[in-house]
Amino acid sequence: MNSPSVRILNHAAEAVPLLLAEVEALAARPGTPLVGFATGGTFTAFFRALADELATKRLDASRLVATHLDEYLGFGPERFGGMVHELCEGCPPLRDWLARGAFLPVPNDGQPASIRAHEAALARHGGVQLQFLGIGRNGHLAFNEPGTPFDSGFHVTQLAETTRHDARARFAPDEPPTQAVTSGLATILGARRLVLCAFGAAKAPAVKAMLQGPIDPACPASLLRRHGDAHVLLDPAAAAELTRR
Ligand code: F6R
Repeated sequence: MNSPSVRILNHAAEAVPLLLAEVEALAARPGTPLVGFATGGTFTAFFRALADELATKRLDASRLVATHLDEYLGFGPERFGGMVHELCEGCPPLRDWLARGAFLPVPNDGQPASIRAHEAALARHGGVQLQFLGIGRNGHLAFNEPGTPFDSGFHVTQLAETTRHDARARFAPDEPPTQAVTSGLATILGARRLVLCAFGAAKAPAVKAMLQGPIDPACPASLLRRHGDAHVLLDPAAAAELTRR
């Protein structure tokens, strides 16, 4: 087993066609295959390209169902700063998916009953088959901050100070939220295929910890090394601290 596979691209932009190809391959599967999107700057160019593929119908996504990793507590789909809002702004065709029930939003109220209903909805589609992931500077996956147990399911979490710092510009002049509803680490590990992207020098220490540090909740992303079908796409700056093996 060689998982995660690690590919160092010449430039972050080279990830876009690879990510689109992942979605295309998923869309060709039978049934209503479920893709889990990640939000954040890492995926902005991908969402722009995906919007274009969907708008021009080059990609037949009529059977695809989407979900995502996390949402700020209390942020409904229309609220600026929220993850569903960001996804729909970045990829406008997702608004239609949301309207027709093909985009399953993380329940922003964080209530146990809503979380159970969301998990049941994901299960009805056979679970997430393809999960896209970013990584936080502190090694977080979704909003599973360092110290989150590997066996966690969906839960309400406190955001780490680095996470809030990185979100501050988006919410200025207001303060960023302190809490979010997040997919758990066990939930993420349960997806059939994982594709994580990390670009830029700020991610280099987290990438090093993920791939070459101990497999430990101190770096939630190190959990990827326990998945049999995980793939990591890096640009040279994010890969800079890796020692060659
Ligand atoms: C967001 C999420 C986060 C981001 C991570 C990287 O849904 O799950 O884990 O993927 O914080 O964010 P960017 O891409 O903005 O560097």
